[in-house]
Amino acid sequence: MAIRKIKADIFSIGAIDWDRKLFDELIPLPDGTSYNSYLIKGSKKIALIDTVDPEKEDILIDNLEKLEIKNINYIIANHAEQDHSGTIPKILELYPNAKVVTNQKCKTMLMDLLSIPEEKFIVINDGDTISLGDKTLKFILAPWVHWPETMFTYLKEDKILFTCDFLGSHFATSELFVKDEAKVYESAKRYYAEIMMPFRNNIKKHIEKISNLDIEIIAPSHGPIYSKPEFIIDAYKDWISDDVKNEVVIPYVSMHGSVEKMVNYLVSCLIEKGITVKPFNLTKTDIGELAISLVDAATIVIASPTVLVGPHPAIVSATYLANALRPKTKFASVIGSYEWGGRMIEQISGMLSNLKVELLSTVLVKGHPKKSDFKSLEKLADEILEKHKRLK
Ligand code: FEO
Repeated sequence: MAIRKIKADIFSIGAIDWDRKLFDELIPLPDGTSYNSYLIKGSKKIALIDTVDPEKEDILIDNLEKLEIKNINYIIANHAEQDHSGTIPKILELYPNAKVVTNQKCKTMLMDLLSIPEEKFIVINDGDTISLGDKTLKFILAPWVHWPETMFTYLKEDKILFTCDFLGSHFATSELFVKDEAKVYESAKRYYAEIMMPFRNNIKKHIEKISNLDIEIIAPSHGPIYSKPEFIIDAYKDWISDDVKNEVVIPYVSMHGSVEKMVNYLVSCLIEKGITVKPFNLTKTDIGELAISLVDAATIVIASPTVLVGPHPAIVSATYLANALRPKTKFASVIGSYEWGGRMIEQISGMLSNLKVELLSTVLVKGHPKKSDFKSLEKLADEILEKHKRLK
C-alpha cells in the first residue's frame, strides 16, 4: 500500500487487505479490510501508532524503508489484537531502540500473545502524555472496545484522534479519507454490530469522553479516515442509543416449505401494518447482514423447523450469535413447525437469556400451516404492532 500523507509529518503507512473475506474465522468481510498504521515524525522523536496483521508486515516494513526511517522511538499499541499488534515483534527486531507504549493490561496481553519482553515496554495511564518535540501524544484509556485493554491516542497539536478498532470499518479502499459516506456508513455499522454492540454501555462512556476533545480528524485502524468526525460520532450515537426502530427481524430456515409459508405470511401482515420487516433465510444470508439489522430492530422473530426434536442447527447458531451480540431489541417471538414432537420453542427461547426482551406469543404448527395457524400469525403481527406503538 502506498504511503499517504495525512498532514505535515503524519503518514498512513499500513496495508490494505483487498482479499480478506473472513475475520476471526467467523465474521464475513464482503469489502475486505485495511490495517492502518500511522507514522508521526516529531521534531525530536518518531512514533508508530499500531502496526499491521503479520500477513502484511512486508508492506509496513517497505513503507518505513521508503520513508528512510532509521529510528523509531515509540510504538504505540492501542490494542493487543494481532491484526494491529502482530507486527510489533518484527518492528522491534528492525528498530531495537524502540519502546512499546501502552497501558498495563495491554502490556500483559502483548507479553502473553507475542512474547514481547517486559523491558521493551513503557506503561502509561489514562491522560498521560508523551512528547515527540513539537507534537504531543495523549493517551485515553477506553476499555471494552471490544477487548478490555483498548485505548485511544490523541495527537494534540494536529487534533487527530487515533481510535484503532473504534469507529472503524472493514472496508478496503484506495481512498485515504471517507468519500462515499453511504458505503462507509454501512461498513462501519456492520463492524459496530459484529464487534462492539455487546459493549454498547461502555461505548456510550467513550463517546462522551471524546466529545470533550477538539477533533479535526478521526483515524481508525480499519477503513478510511474521517475528516468530518461528526459523521461517524453521530452514527454511533444513534446505534448506541436506547431507541429502537419500528422493525422486525426474522431469521429463518425452512426445510420443506412450512416455515417459509409462515414467514411469508407474517412478513405480509407486518408490511400491511406499516412495520419494516427484514427476513433472513439463514441458508442464504451472511450473518453480518443479520447482525446489522439487529442494531435497530424493536423485535426479533425466530422461525425454525424441527430437526431431531430441536431447532435447526443454523437457527441455533444464529440465535446464539444474536444472544451474544446483546442488541437493544425489546421483543422476541419464536414460530415454527414440527411433525412428531419436540421442544423447539422452549429451546430457542431459552437461548435468549442475554437479551432484555419481552417474549411475545409463539406459533407452533403441526406440518403445513392451516387457516387457524395463519390466524395466529395475524394475531402475532397485531401484538407486535401494539408493542411498537407503545414505544413512541
Ligand atoms: Fe482490529 Fe480488535 O482488532
